[in-house]
Amino acid sequence: METILFKVEDDSQGDLLKRAAALLQSGCLVAFPTETVYGLGANALDAEAVLGIFQAKGRPADNPLIVHIVEMEELVGLTDGIPEVAKQLMTHFWPGALTLVFRRSAAVPDGVTGGLDTVAVRMPVHPVARKLLKLAAVPVAAPSANRSGRPSPTTAQHVLEDMDGRIPMIVDGGPCEVGVESTVLDVTVQPPMLLRPGGITREMIEAVIGPITLDSHLAGGTDKPKSPGMKYTHYAPRAPMTLFIGDTVAVEKRMFSDAATLSAEGHRVGVLCTEESLVRYRLAFSPAEAGPGISDGPSPLLADESVGGRVFPLSSGFRGNPASVAAGVFSVLRRFDAIGVDVILAEGFPETGVGHAIMNRLRKAAGGHVILCPQEKETT
Ligand code: TXA
Ligand code: MG
Repeated sequence: METILFKVEDDSQGDLLKRAAALLQSGCLVAFPTETVYGLGANALDAEAVLGIFQAKGRPADNPLIVHIVEMEELVGLTDGIPEVAKQLMTHFWPGALTLVFRRSAAVPDGVTGGLDTVAVRMPVHPVARKLLKLAAVPVAAPSANRSGRPSPTTAQHVLEDMDGRIPMIVDGGPCEVGVESTVLDVTVQPPMLLRPGGITREMIEAVIGPITLDSHLAGGTDKPKSPGMKYTHYAPRAPMTLFIGDTVAVEKRMFSDAATLSAEGHRVGVLCTEESLVRYRLAFSPAEAGPGISDGPSPLLADESVGGRVFPLSSGFRGNPASVAAGVFSVLRRFDAIGVDVILAEGFPETGVGHAIMNRLRKAAGGHVILCPQEKETT
């Protein structure tokens, strides 16, 4: 199958977007941008089309999909009642990066819900997603448009990497602003329960409806997650990754030393760092590894293998601006795949606000391999 990718900015008459909508109506798959990550859409009320999503992604059938809507009226047909607390949340956060889990109606195919008696729904705010949903005039089931287990795509190019030849169309609306997936909140229980941290933070939700609970696996428990997708290895780059948490200075020191050791052993080391520390990695590794004679001039962003460099520091954003880290994190994980590093060392972040979502994704990418770096005692 040929995959057509078009840029929205080149589609001034909207003809291609109409074609994308027609494809959705006829049961085909279309990848499209949302404010969080790119989605792989199919008509949510067409059981066969929905099956196509699982095939294209290689996704386990028990992992349910989020249904995307553009008008409030669409919700009525999908759910069996809308709790008061959901109405409050929708007033504040829809359209936007909040997915709500409701009791499902009989109209929703089993394939969408993975056989559960609930359905997850969200109303995206991205203008291209909204236009496409309006033109398609059907609710659209859409998981993140990556092959199952790979980092979520935040650009159309990422989608192409994973889906070329598997789907007929990719709508390119540029990079996604939020960069991590939507928050998933179960409103069938009282108080509501956070199943996946995301773009809308726990603090933002609690400011509107008061205290919520956390699914026990988010609170450090070992129970089976209520959101089936959270049990799979997700967001994983190809190389094994270690996450370093704790005191910022101690983290940086330990990562420098581990990067030096690993590279001396001949490994290609990806370092996921922040903009604030990037320059220090470049100074420490690129010129030194480059050998005599070429240490002058600007350090390359990537270590140059032809001169022996093996440490590849990439920044996911500014430590002082967690939203920028969220927007960049999946992209950096994918670049490590493209570079072909053997091992990844990653800086951790404070688990507040959107940092909660960032760390949830990084912990998963690291497969639980986390090293705590406590603050060093001052010696006098
Ligand atoms: O930001 C997003 O949510 C993106 C964009 C495309 O909208 N979509 C996305 O979909 O991340 P996906 O399929 O990659 O993740 C959906 C998550 C999974 O963890 C899944 O288990 C959970 O939502 N989920 C879906 N339906 C559910 C339900 N009825 N009950 C509990 N969890 C559910
Ligand atoms: Mg996903």
